[in-house]
Amino acid sequence: MGKVIAITGKGGTGKTAVTAMLIRHLNNSEKKFRILAIDADPDANLADALGAKVEKTVGDMREFMQDSRFTSSPDTDKQALFEAKIFEILLEEDGYDLLVMGKPEGSGCYCYVNNLLRAIMDKTAKDYDLIVIDSPAGLEHFSRKIFPDLDDLIVVTDESRRGLTTGERIRDIAREMGLKYKDLYVVVNKITTGRRDKVIENATSLGLTVIGTIPYDESLAKFDLVGDPLTGLPDDSPAVKEMANVVGKLGL
Ligand SMILES: Nc1ncnc2c1ncn2[C@@H]1O[C@H](COP(=O)(O)OP(=O)(O)O)[C@@H](O)[C@H]1O
Ligand SMILES: [Mg+2]
Repeated sequence: MGKVIAITGKGGTGKTAVTAMLIRHLNNSEKKFRILAIDADPDANLADALGAKVEKTVGDMREFMQDSRFTSSPDTDKQALFEAKIFEILLEEDGYDLLVMGKPEGSGCYCYVNNLLRAIMDKTAKDYDLIVIDSPAGLEHFSRKIFPDLDDLIVVTDESRRGLTTGERIRDIAREMGLKYKDLYVVVNKITTGRRDKVIENATSLGLTVIGTIPYDESLAKFDLVGDPLTGLPDDSPAVKEMANVVGKLGL
C-alpha cells in the first residue's frame, strides 16, 4: 500500500488549501502518483478547491446501507453492495480520485456499516500510491477506524503560539483514540514576513517539527474569493512555491 497522509487543523487555518496544493504539486510532477483524495470534513469544500463536482457522499451511502440493514434479503452480499455504492460515488478526476465523506452519522449504532466501510477502504487503498485525507481537528472519522493507519499526520496552523498548541492537542487526541501514525508535522500557514524564525522557535519549544511556512498569498486568496480551483494557481505563486518544500520534506 502507498503512503497515507492526513491534513488536519482548526477550521479556517488552510487545511483544504494545503491539501489542494499538495495534489496540484504531485499532478505536475514527473512521478505519476495514483492519488485518492478524501474529504473527511463535514464542512466539505475540498471538491471546490480542486474544481470537482460532487453529488453524493459516503455519508449518503452509509445511510442507504443503514436503512436497508433489516429490509434487504438475508442473501444480499452487503459488503459487495456497499462497495458498489462507494464506487458509484468515487469521482475519477484527471490526476486524482475523490471521495467525500459528507454528513456525520445520524443517531443509532453504525458499527455494522462502519465495519463494512473499513474493509472497503482497506481494499480500495491498495490501488493508490498516496491517500490524502482533509480532516477536521477532532479526527472524528479516525476514531471510527474507517481509514488505514497513517504515515504522516500534518497539522496546519496559523503563526500564533495558541495556534501551535493545536499541534499538541491533536497529538493528545490521536494518542487517546489510539490513532497510529509514523510522524506528526506542522505546516504554518498564512505566515507574515519576518516571523518565520520566531514561529519555528515556538514550535520547537513545544516539541513540534515544522516542515513548511506558507506565506499569506494574495493570489490564493483571490482564487478562493471568486471560487476558482486552487489547482489553477500559477507556479510562481508564493504559497505554491513553499508547498514544493513541504512535498520534499514528506519524501514524495
Ligand atoms: N496561504 C494563504 N494565503 C492566503 N489565504 C489563504 C491561505 N491559505 C488559506 N487561505 C484562505 O483562508 C481561508 C480558509 O482556508 P481553507 O483552506 O478553506 O481552510 P480550512 O480547510 O482549514 O477550513 C480561505 O478563504 C482561503 O482562501
Ligand atoms: Mg476545509
